[in-house]
Amino acid sequence: MLDNFVFGVATSAYQIEGGWDADGKVPSIWDEMSHTPGHVQNGHTGDIACDHYHRWKKDVHLMADLSIQAYRFSISWSRIMPEPPKKVNEKGIKFYQKLVNKLLDYDIKPFVTLYHWDLPKWLDDIGGWGNPDIIKHFKGFASVMFEALPDVEHWITFNEPAVFVNNSWGHHNYPEAVRNVLLAHGKTASHYKANYDGKIGISLNLMPFIPNDWESKKDLLAVENVSKRHNGIWLEPIFNGRFPDGINKLYNLKNKLFFTKEEKNIVKTSIDFLGINYYSCPTVKYNPYKPPVNAMFVNNDYLKDEMGVGIKPHGLYLICKQVKEKYGDIPLYITENGCAYNDVLTHDNKVHDRRRINYMKQHLAYCNLTVEKGIPLKGYFHWSLMNNFEWSFGYTKQFGLIDIHYPTLKRTPKDSYYWYKKIIKDEEFRKKEMEEL
Ligand code: NOJ
Repeated sequence: MLDNFVFGVATSAYQIEGGWDADGKVPSIWDEMSHTPGHVQNGHTGDIACDHYHRWKKDVHLMADLSIQAYRFSISWSRIMPEPPKKVNEKGIKFYQKLVNKLLDYDIKPFVTLYHWDLPKWLDDIGGWGNPDIIKHFKGFASVMFEALPDVEHWITFNEPAVFVNNSWGHHNYPEAVRNVLLAHGKTASHYKANYDGKIGISLNLMPFIPNDWESKKDLLAVENVSKRHNGIWLEPIFNGRFPDGINKLYNLKNKLFFTKEEKNIVKTSIDFLGINYYSCPTVKYNPYKPPVNAMFVNNDYLKDEMGVGIKPHGLYLICKQVKEKYGDIPLYITENGCAYNDVLTHDNKVHDRRRINYMKQHLAYCNLTVEKGIPLKGYFHWSLMNNFEWSFGYTKQFGLIDIHYPTLKRTPKDSYYWYKKIIKDEEFRKKEMEEL
């Protein structure tokens, strides 16, 4: 059961590193946003975060003790590329080289994300993702990292483009940003594939939308519309070099989304694996008063975590199945899955996060079902290794397997950490836990 399966954890640079101006790092849009009152709850910033920039050795020890086989993290572009014409920042590169070497010492495979939302501010100042020049800047940054980290065998170009593009983080021009992200992805991935032997993919936050009534043609149409807007807008270009039919109407776009013939070939077939960040699967109902999608989400009584996200473990299987049915046997990884529960340290100096254990157990059971059904799901990365900066929620939401006491930065593994460790190491226990469901 889930043998030959990669068990991992995931984090991202701005959410854990801190060291926001250390060793030549320049500001990113998230430094700017968090330093601007009103953007982040309680005025929290990532200035120190989990201080992983200085405590990375301890964190890798904790990963090794957890027995994970892979670690997904992201590179802070602002550590590597100060504003041109200044040269690449060697100190930033050294940090990631040391981290990767230490991971490899422990046999932990690095899965490296190039962009997890923290655009250098100097790029935002010239239009960010809305300016086509960003394509060459991104490819340039990626090429520096490919050369600097030759032992990394798995690269992820972008994390959840839907989120930073829809929230206008790092651009002010929706259709241009979508095009430029996809072109930057395509150019970078083909450059990698032409010059290196490892694998390259992208992580999308996909959702398998469920019709409120399977018998209702209108609900099915509503599902099709929201799926095109949310999933298809990224999947169709990457697999088929085109945008989904009717996408411009569904987004009410005056400046149309399109690709030239040459661009189609750039974005298409550019991945070796697809990363799916799976969190939920909303139920959708037809609503004629909500043009152009004519759809609304139905609030049903699923259990929710403290982000208000409905917990639907079987959606993990559904989305993998949908991808296989539409796009064939592309290797899949769940590059994120996790829940916010604010369990605290109790008097015994432990965090008894039973709800997280239950959540993981159910989602891993659906990973197992997915594999059993012959879908090429290769691994699972839990979000997240440790509590961290949850974007506009600051430190108020806690996703980690490890508790962080922010005033002292002390790390305390939660019960879920020990449970996951046992799942990874002990085949019998894994079997028993999965079968219990
Ligand atoms: C998706 C994002 O990639 C990650 O940065 C975020 O913290 C988690 N989901 C939880 O919301």
